Amino acid sequence: MPSLAIIIQEIAQEMAQAPDRGRVADYIPALAQVSAGHFGMAVVLADGTTHLAGDADVPFSIQSISKVFSLTLALGMVGDALWRRVGKEPSGSAFNSIMQLESEHGIPRNPFINAGAIVVCDHLLGHYEPREIIGELLRFVRSLVGEDTISIDAVVARGEQETGFRNIALANYMRGFGNIHHPVERVLGVYFHQCALAMSCRQLALAGRYLMAGGRNLATGRSVISPQRARRINALMLTCGHYDGSGEFAFRTGLPGKSGVGGGILAIVPGRASVAVWSPGLNEHGNSQLGTLALERLVQKTNWSVFEPAASRL
Ligand code: DON
Repeated sequence: MPSLAIIIQEIAQEMAQAPDRGRVADYIPALAQVSAGHFGMAVVLADGTTHLAGDADVPFSIQSISKVFSLTLALGMVGDALWRRVGKEPSGSAFNSIMQLESEHGIPRNPFINAGAIVVCDHLLGHYEPREIIGELLRFVRSLVGEDTISIDAVVARGEQETGFRNIALANYMRGFGNIHHPVERVLGVYFHQCALAMSCRQLALAGRYLMAGGRNLATGRSVISPQRARRINALMLTCGHYDGSGEFAFRTGLPGKSGVGGGILAIVPGRASVAVWSPGLNEHGNSQLGTLALERLVQKTNWSVFEPAASRL
């Protein structure tokens, strides 16, 4: 088996030449400006070794990947009470679908579809003002990475505020069922800013280490969340992290993963690695087309699937 460094360079070369790169998201104005030509990959191992390829240091809009971090914060604040207002099941529907909310009385299926993440923001607002919770989220992500340069892209956030009609509908619909307790514009203000977090693959892979390491922040050695909570978030990423494409992602990679419409994917190899890929072109489910292919290649070449016998892994 070639070395990991060689494997990652080979994957980057293949992705750089890939003809079918998917379609860049265009419903958020700033995202429509991003070139589909980008590809970046970062792999951070449990021993701290970092492998980078392509545009691994180019910041991009992490969008729905931010839902992993807001969920972690909310579980830290309200614990399992969260699960009274949002489910743990795959929706099998698109990330911004409103369909199930009527028959399920305003309770979203999971915290990774937009409706679920909006309820998580409402929970977080229970303890803070919008500006404070956005600051708390930024401090949290910066502490995971160990870098203070991470920021929120105000242009992206404003663009989403101006075009977020579906999210406004989702929030109002849930408020109608009593599952949103704060004014909708305040909840969505937090939600749009969290989605506008700008990070590079290298920073995202560093931020995901606590999910690889049983809840511990390897930079500080301190516990971020309990091992049980880390396991549960990884399980949700596997079953729900790619919306109605979660089955296919699990089938092809066998890894817990969370996607975003900016073309990023954060994937976790428990005990082994935290991996981030970025390619802005999306498939029909709104997940990075080449990001998914790159992770599939990585698993094929390393046997890192969680469904693989541990002994055969690189
Ligand atoms: O709310 C939205 O539609 C976007 N801010 C986030 C959606 C997203 O990233 C879906 N992921 N693939």
